Amino acid sequence: MEKKLRCLIPQEEIATMVRRVAQELDQDYKDRSPVLVGILKGAFVYLADLIRHLKTPIRNIEFIRLSSYGVSTISSGRAVVVTGLPKGTVTGQDVILIEDIVDTGITTTAALRYLRRDKPASLRLCTLLDKPSRRRVPVSIDYVGKTVPEGFVVGYGTDFDQRYRQLPAIYTLRE
Ligand code: IMP
Ligand code: MG
Repeated sequence: MEKKLRCLIPQEEIATMVRRVAQELDQDYKDRSPVLVGILKGAFVYLADLIRHLKTPIRNIEFIRLSSYGVSTISSGRAVVVTGLPKGTVTGQDVILIEDIVDTGITTTAALRYLRRDKPASLRLCTLLDKPSRRRVPVSIDYVGKTVPEGFVVGYGTDFDQRYRQLPAIYTLRE
């Protein structure tokens, strides 16, 4: 059945969010050269926009992929890294993990734990969206584009059943 989309964050507002976060990162990473690690697939659009606003010289851009058991709009209780990084990739580096949306917190917690094992010099979390209403694991987020209310969102990298990632704005999805 076709779903209805309602615009939650228009394109111009996303652009403003991206510029603001890039400024925060530029301030905090002055004189450093961080490694950005995006979580596939959702974060690829945000990461691509963000890097083009950063003045900080980026040391490296990497991606990891996690899989949560279960599908659809309800996250399951576990996430595993299915595509990781060669050992030593982030060792001694200032790492910024880039996520599309922190919902229950399970995915980001697993991703942070995975990266920490490789002993980065520092590790921070930067998410486009924070949806704290369904949080099951406490996550400390360093950079947030916008906090959103309960409800499923799509667009700007985020999907429902792999669709809608291409939309330039962020929408809520309804039956
Ligand atoms: P968490 O593990 O529950 O925090 O969920 C994280 C992952 O679930 C994110 O990386 C998203 O890919 C996906 N997710 C959570 N909420 C939404 C949503 O509203 N729209 C699209 N994807 C979502
Ligand atoms: Mg994701």
